[in-house]
Amino acid sequence: MNPFRFGRHYDPDCFVDREREYSQLLSAVQSGNNVVVVAPRRFGKTWLLQKFVAESGFQCIYLDLLSVISLRDLCAKMISKSFELLKLNDPVKFIREYLKNLSRHVSFSIGADGVNFTLGKDIDEESLLSESYRLLEKLGDPMAPLIVCIDEFQAYRTVSEKLPGSIRGFFQTTPNVIFVFSGSMRHMIEELFFQSKGLMYHCGIKLDLSSFLPKEEVTDYLVRKFEASGKRISSSVAGRFYEITKGHPYYVQIMAYELWNTCLKEATEKDLTEALNQLIFRERHTYDMALDVLGQKYVRKVLIMIASNKDIFSIEALREFEIPNPSIANKTVKKLIELGFVEKLSRGNYEIIDPIFEEYILRRFS
Ligand SMILES: Nc1ncnc2c1ncn2[C@@H]1O[C@H](COP(=O)(O)OP(=O)(O)OP(=O)(O)O)[C@@H](O)[C@H]1O
Ligand SMILES: [Mg+2]
Repeated sequence: MNPFRFGRHYDPDCFVDREREYSQLLSAVQSGNNVVVVAPRRFGKTWLLQKFVAESGFQCIYLDLLSVISLRDLCAKMISKSFELLKLNDPVKFIREYLKNLSRHVSFSIGADGVNFTLGKDIDEESLLSESYRLLEKLGDPMAPLIVCIDEFQAYRTVSEKLPGSIRGFFQTTPNVIFVFSGSMRHMIEELFFQSKGLMYHCGIKLDLSSFLPKEEVTDYLVRKFEASGKRISSSVAGRFYEITKGHPYYVQIMAYELWNTCLKEATEKDLTEALNQLIFRERHTYDMALDVLGQKYVRKVLIMIASNKDIFSIEALREFEIPNPSIANKTVKKLIELGFVEKLSRGNYEIIDPIFEEYILRRFS
């Protein structure tokens, strides 16, 4: 069976490195601090959070804001997760003991994935939220704080504009509940948590997860996994694999998955090229969609310039790509940074964060 895993569910056997970041997360929480995990898409935020939930020994609740459609729904999910955490088997008793003030408004159903709670429309959101917070407060204890992990926090607006202020008010009065937030729109998360005008300024310690995985760990991982599954990869092919993926967590897994499927007994350079083609083919709709969303007139040109290592402000490059002046290049690149596609390395020197998207741009527009 193919031993590589990509998907929402954390697999400890496929987790590479992140030791420093994981121990920073642990020690921040142990000392009672909230944490804000920031990284571009597919850099391993969810896996790090799930590792924490599974292995830290803390009692945790994990919530994914992208799967929440309203404040009412968020409260219902907090209640369902609390019930799960308490490992109770009687929902009626749970409601009686923990949600006394809500008892008239809560109903539950028992499904394949456990007990799900639903909240009636006849109670206002404010009271729902304060009762849900009260429940979390009851679960936390000075000797065993409750850790609430909120993933995809950049999506809070689709739940409620009021959420940041309300969470802030809650944890300022509740020392036994600690929050771990995670989000992928760096610009927005930074503004929210780390700029003085942000609604959650000073509400958590930043944990930056935007570095690629290190070469030695990735190549060791490949060699080990191939061997354990009855195939082989030489250290030179593994090294070339690393150059292509740069150690981007998602591409490490998915490219290794393709490579393992492509090769017979031993992975060769040719298999690697084939796997890369497969990968680009698999991801092409996502990339085209990104280009569509970006839409602006000069975005493609600036992306091609960056992918081909041009100084985007040089007169020659601007002339070659028919960009009228450096301020247009500057505005475009700022937008790309804001949306998390590009990172600044030094003046005039930028990098497309996603290495396979970069390869796609070079192939598509050259
Ligand atoms: N430490 C790691 N070691 C190896 N593979 C990893 C690691 N972290 C993540 N991955 C791989 O990358 C994939 C994407 O990771 P994950 O879903 O955690 O990213 P994310 O930052 O939460 O992305 P998004 O912003 O899109 O939610 C995982 O499915 C897994 O295959
Ligand atoms: Mg995620």
